[in-house]
Amino acid sequence: MSSKGSVLIIDDEQDVRESLEQLLKLDGYSVATAGTAEEGCKKIEDQVCDLVLLDISLPGRSGLDVLQQIKRDSPETPVIMITAYDSSQTAFQASKQGAESYITKPWDNEKLLLEIRNLLDRSRLRVENVQLRRALKKFGLPNLIGKSEPMQKVFDLITQVAPSRATVLIQGESGTGKELVAKTIHATSPRADRPFVPVNTGSMPVDLLDSTLFGHVKGAFTSAVATKRGLFELADQGTIFFDEIGTVGPETQTKLLRVIQEREFMRLGGTETIRVDVRILAATNEDLRRLVQENKFREDLYYRLNVITIPLPPLRERKEDIPHLLDHFLKKFGRENGRPDLRFSPEALKLMMAYDWPGNVRELENTVERAVVLASGPELGVDLLPEPISRNGSNALRSLPLASLEGRSLFEITEAYERQLILDALVESHWSQTEAAERLKIPLSTLNQKVKRLQIDVKRRRQA
Ligand SMILES: Nc1ncnc2c1ncn2[C@@H]1O[C@H](COP(=O)(O)OP(=O)(O)OP(=O)(O)O)[C@@H](O)[C@H]1O
Ligand SMILES: [Mg+2]
Repeated sequence: MSSKGSVLIIDDEQDVRESLEQLLKLDGYSVATAGTAEEGCKKIEDQVCDLVLLDISLPGRSGLDVLQQIKRDSPETPVIMITAYDSSQTAFQASKQGAESYITKPWDNEKLLLEIRNLLDRSRLRVENVQLRRALKKFGLPNLIGKSEPMQKVFDLITQVAPSRATVLIQGESGTGKELVAKTIHATSPRADRPFVPVNTGSMPVDLLDSTLFGHVKGAFTSAVATKRGLFELADQGTIFFDEIGTVGPETQTKLLRVIQEREFMRLGGTETIRVDVRILAATNEDLRRLVQENKFREDLYYRLNVITIPLPPLRERKEDIPHLLDHFLKKFGRENGRPDLRFSPEALKLMMAYDWPGNVRELENTVERAVVLASGPELGVDLLPEPISRNGSNALRSLPLASLEGRSLFEITEAYERQLILDALVESHWSQTEAAERLKIPLSTLNQKVKRLQIDVKRRRQA
């Protein structure tokens, strides 16, 4: 796929075909030609073409007829109609049936080349990862936060590997930022303006995964009505990202190994070898080496993927990043919700620092979003934290060292404990006072009084 793209010319006039062919070849395209509608349709079915130049008046089947077929079988292929004279009527009809553009004979070479380039650029852009582009638009480069030493090491590795085409394996627990790291590698690589194509291998059935990755030729299976490109071709000159690589089945593993080694593959049912220039990134939250030992993952593929590994440490091993991440997400969700003034209370911060974050950064992100959405005042207190984090806190409070209680009266201390225990019970019973009273083994009326005296705002929380 070294050419700028492949163009199919369908025209019954030989000299038109030849002059177009020469023009396009000189400009770096690979060109196929057909003199009849039938021949043209066959070529479209058998080989992938990036763009079609189609004569509107062909002998036998008309050009508009062929156009219909192209738009039905491979709607993403742009078509330029060639008309003999400037007839806005036929042009209108062609555009109604999906032609991207038309030229009239005699055409202007420069204009035609420009039009082709624009159409190809546009259709390439379409396949680019929409998500990444949206993220880039919104936040600039993907935002990787981390001041801790382990994260600094991750940044160093990213900067080292980004310029190369080396395969990278990103390993880390769920929610540690594997996909974000992959996007950052791509976005800071020379491939940044080419597609980033994520593939969630875990969620796809085997045969679908194969045809999704490698494409298929017409007739490869019952529903394959036209030749289709796979993600590997779409990622050409860009980056492909295999999420959950540990879940890929044995057959696909073999094919992947071949692509990584040879940078080439065949479409499903095809005989033609296709070469691509794709950078491969993979992520896993499983121990691939263990999967190798259990014969669930090919050892040679493991070594191919494992050229460079970026281990992402779980959040509990880099707690000094927590305040920075909280800050980052407070800004993000503050902006989104029109609440730029929010901050966490010192107790809430303490609890979040003490918490283990089994869901890692994703859990922290969700926690901040929830608190921002539920907030009424500018300070986000313990009451806005989800149960596992706030419960952690009450345990911490119960085991509070005596020293920190110094200077407080017995009344204040017992009241603080009482408030926390009632809050715990309320949280666990989803703010139902009846249920909380049962848990605390006190009458409902007593709980009502205490809630009032301790100024626990049950009504607002219930609504939340
Ligand atoms: N260091 C970080 N700085 C800022 N945001 C982060 C960081 N790490 C992760 N995130 C954010 O946390 C969320 C989860 O990250 P991501 O999806 O990359 O994790 P993952 O490791 O791929 O998770 P999973 O294994 O569940 O697929 C995303 O919204 C991501 O933007
Ligand atoms: Mg992920």
